[in-house]
Amino acid sequence: MSTEETPLTGGRITAGVVRVGETVRRPVTRDRAHVHGLLLHLEERGFDAVPRFLGVDDQQREVLSFIPGHVPDDLGHFDDAQLAAAARLLRRFHDATADFPLVLDTGAEVMCHNDWGPPNAVFRDRLPCGLIDFDTLAPGLRLWDLGYFAFAWLDLGDDAYTGDEQIRRLEVVAQAYGMAGCAATQIAIHALARQTALAVAGRVQGKPDMADWAAAAADWTVLNVLEQLSPTGYALPAG
Ligand SMILES: Nc1ncnc2c1ncn2[C@@H]1O[C@H](COP(=O)(O)OP(=O)(O)O)[C@@H](O)[C@H]1O
Ligand SMILES: [Mg+2]
Repeated sequence: MSTEETPLTGGRITAGVVRVGETVRRPVTRDRAHVHGLLLHLEERGFDAVPRFLGVDDQQREVLSFIPGHVPDDLGHFDDAQLAAAARLLRRFHDATADFPLVLDTGAEVMCHNDWGPPNAVFRDRLPCGLIDFDTLAPGLRLWDLGYFAFAWLDLGDDAYTGDEQIRRLEVVAQAYGMAGCAATQIAIHALARQTALAVAGRVQGKPDMADWAAAAADWTVLNVLEQLSPTGYALPAG
């Protein structure tokens, strides 16, 4: 088997991710027991859209199976078919995590990926079909992941889209995920929560570019989406 190491630089967060043959080696920077446990849990359930956990190598790097395909370096425009595929994949992932012991022990709904956006998706034939990068994995609520989904996959907050177009795209996502009842509104409210949380994180972590970007996106979501989703002015008080 080839032992040649090819750097995988697309992610920009974790230094030293390399491909070796059909595996990925990823330096471990913090406790990963819950990640490895979940990948094994998903393997047992036959969920094959995530890497297999294959162990830890002699440099203390985790060994994961390599998922063939294309991983975008950045956000971008994704059409309805791509959004729907990403939402269906998240739904299958969430459903397969619902009986993971950490979820049951914490009273959560599912394991949240917490960073499910295009740069952590493996595409084949234009469609996202694999999830990678479980650094932010944690027990949580489905809508918490869907709020981030709207920010990352729809680029919610970008002036390239109108509010009406983004509401239509939120409905595409909600339908593909299998939500009913005010689904676009629910996702938009959680997108605002995630944008606000990222703005706060950017401030307290000394990342002003991230803080400004997320805060501007939160403003945009209030003014162009939440206001429109309620006929009585859902977001802005009268006066
Ligand atoms: N299991 C995998 N299969 C295929 N490619 C992978 C896999 N894991 C990582 N990669 C590649 O390595 C890059 C960085 O990995 P990632 O886990 O996303 O790190 P980061 O924390 O830097 O975002 C990704 O952009 C992707 O191209
Ligand atoms: Mg990544």
